[in-house]
Amino acid sequence: MLEVSVLKLLLVEDNPGDARLIEEALADAGDDNFELEHVEDLASGGACLDSVEYALVLLDLDLPDSVGLETFQQMRTHGPKTPFIVLTGLNDEGLALKAVQLGAQDYLIKGETDGHLLVRAIHYAIEREQTQQKIKALNADLERRVEERTQELAEANRALAHINEELRELDRMKTSFIRVTSHELNTPVTVILGMLSLLEQHDPEQSNSWERALKVARRRATSLKDLVTRILKISQAGEYIQRLDRADINPEKLVRRVASEAMPYITLRGQTLEVELTKELPLVSMDFAKILDVLLHLTMNAVKFTPDGGTITISVTPRDGAALLFAVSDTGVGFQKEDVGHVFEEFFSSFDSEHHSSGDYEFGKRGIGLGLAIAKEFVEMHEGRIWLESRPGKGSTVQFELPAEPTEAAEAE
Ligand SMILES: Nc1ncnc2c1ncn2[C@@H]1O[C@H](COP(=O)(O)OP(=O)(O)OP(=O)(O)O)[C@@H](O)[C@H]1O
Ligand SMILES: [Mg+2]
Repeated sequence: MLEVSVLKLLLVEDNPGDARLIEEALADAGDDNFELEHVEDLASGGACLDSVEYALVLLDLDLPDSVGLETFQQMRTHGPKTPFIVLTGLNDEGLALKAVQLGAQDYLIKGETDGHLLVRAIHYAIEREQTQQKIKALNADLERRVEERTQELAEANRALAHINEELRELDRMKTSFIRVTSHELNTPVTVILGMLSLLEQHDPEQSNSWERALKVARRRATSLKDLVTRILKISQAGEYIQRLDRADINPEKLVRRVASEAMPYITLRGQTLEVELTKELPLVSMDFAKILDVLLHLTMNAVKFTPDGGTITISVTPRDGAALLFAVSDTGVGFQKEDVGHVFEEFFSSFDSEHHSSGDYEFGKRGIGLGLAIAKEFVEMHEGRIWLESRPGKGSTVQFELPAEPTEAAEAE
């Protein structure tokens, strides 16, 4: 058997005649599934709604303690999910309609209500309110999910932006790595080529220089091989940070090495190389390969930008404040005035493409413009500084200074 639950109704009506009419209409309809409770003012109606859950409220808008729309609005605060049917006189239909706009489910005109109409209105009102409440709940749920999803998306966006930044950083590091290593690869090749040209012009009487050239070429070929192995390891590990491989170095040994490696080009160009060393230079902590690269590069620049027969001077002096000063001077063309502020920028390109010839050491041949930028990078990795002085038409001096004692920050690298 179908079980029908009893619906509790609340009637708020101060006029006993009107209240009786409602009670009679319900009785007439013969629907005894309703249980009607009757109160006569707003205060009692509100108190009832606060304590009991009603299936529906039948509400007269004109009560002793409240009049008009206010009555509905007040009662609604006590039963925000309860369906309301507003009871109104013939003249108040407009007011009743406003109550419907504000959330009442229906209105009935007093005296025109028979039992069947009333029961139907009650059932419809209950049904509509339930549907509206479901829609509201669904909407709220949907909004909550949209909000959650929006937050998730914002979170995912932030994560993506972060990954993007990391990828960009990796890309920057890789680009810088390629730039530096291609330059580093070039250095031993330059030395080997120099030694080969020495061997080509070799005088059989001087087996000494022949042996020396072979020795240097072999040493540089080995360093080239080591460099390639290091590059492969770095790219396998995906760790593109340039690190210093420090040791205590005798600056004289470094300069002698540069002089012997640059010598074939100096000889070819009929230039003179002078080495000025202060006696008893201190051992200095540095990455030998990198500072050798810097000094050799400055010397090769001097060779390129000094006419045949010119003089190149490499000097090392201890400086006040326990620093070491390296200088490479030449009697060449000097830096052009407008270039001086830019030559340490990478791919410095004021050069005329007709004069561009990488790896070529004839007078005035410019390369790709990386050498000085990388020299600056290597010197700064040692916490040193590099600068130049130019005497246009007469020559130039590029100097760099290394701190004798690395700071703790540099040590931690
Ligand atoms: N000793 C020098 N005298 C005059 N100009 C120089 C000297 N050294 C460098 N320059 C100028 O500075 C520019 C930049 O030098 P850098 O060593 O960076 O590049 P590069 O020698 O042209 O090419 P790369 O070194 O990449 O093969 C040179 O092209 C040249 O114009
Ligand atoms: Mg150069």
